[in-house]
Amino acid sequence: MNYNIAVIEGDGIGPEIVNAAIEVLKLAGKKYKANFVFKKAKAGGAAIDYLGTPLPKETIQICLESNSVLLGAVGGPKWDILPGNLRPEKALLGIRKELGLYANIRPAKLLPELKTACPLKKEVADAGFDMVIVRELTGGMYFGENGRKNGPYGPEAFDTECYSEMEVERIGIIAFELARARGKKLISIDKANVLESSRLWREVIHKLGANYPDVQLTDMLVDNAAMQLVKNPKQFDVVVTSNMFGDILSDEASQITGSIGLLPSASLGETKRGMYEPIHGSAPDIAGQDKANPIATILSAAMMMRLSFSQEEAAQYIENAVSRVLAKGMRTADIALPGESVLSCSQMIKEILDELK
Ligand code: IPM
Ligand code: MG
Repeated sequence: MNYNIAVIEGDGIGPEIVNAAIEVLKLAGKKYKANFVFKKAKAGGAAIDYLGTPLPKETIQICLESNSVLLGAVGGPKWDILPGNLRPEKALLGIRKELGLYANIRPAKLLPELKTACPLKKEVADAGFDMVIVRELTGGMYFGENGRKNGPYGPEAFDTECYSEMEVERIGIIAFELARARGKKLISIDKANVLESSRLWREVIHKLGANYPDVQLTDMLVDNAAMQLVKNPKQFDVVVTSNMFGDILSDEASQITGSIGLLPSASLGETKRGMYEPIHGSAPDIAGQDKANPIATILSAAMMMRLSFSQEEAAQYIENAVSRVLAKGMRTADIALPGESVLSCSQMIKEILDELK
């Protein structure tokens, strides 16, 4: 099979980690007879510097013509002074919207090899956890009406959280189906004790629940969820939540797996074309220093094989190689304990590639 992959390296550590995923995909492709053509496109700060806009039209076009998109990360302090609509982050939101990628799948699993890197109490880490956060990705406050105005106390700014039934229903279906295929437990996270948009969210999710009598549905308020994630993460199987709550909770969930440098993600819509990216950012503080953890991006490539190309074996081949390297005690700085030897990004990549050969 031939696949065209749009590659957006982005900013900061983006190029280092994306190139790792490309090398991994090439090896997986060789073994499983998939031929990849990679086409680079610019977005984020790199595009601002080059073309004066975070998301050039040509980039959207390259993404639309591809079978999937691989993305590193965007943003950095250099572009923090720009107005909201010209910031690098706008590129990420724009691609998600333009490609209709409304469902963001973020698995957070404590790998047995990394129990010691988990910051939670030993008994909680020993119990382990394996959850998937399904984050709504093209609605809510990140896309709602916003602006600045003058109020009774002077200048004000506002952002609006708005969800249509349609948006909640389509993300709900993704989450219920995933729960059905996994542990048959779905926790829907909202703030229905305060927000009207959350009350609508809850109504729609419960209506859908009638079609999934085999899935146990529980509501949880987002503040409680933030606490439960560190108190008893094992209770979560599939979680469904809004764009903003999912953004926040998935960072929290990543940290209890040991490091945000480990978590992959897939953004999906109505077609097989997805965008695959680590959940972490561009880490400007370590950019260009060969210190990044490439694992989240490599595991994102595995998700691409599984979800966009239906190559389950190739996905497992990549995931198993990562597990074996971790089992051997290989650690980048973010997951090393005091006293453990630390691999650079390129050394970690080499270990994983050697494992795949
Ligand atoms: C993420 C990131 C993005 C988001 C930023 C960079 C716009 O935090 O993918 O979680 O908020 O979605
Ligand atoms: Mg985030």
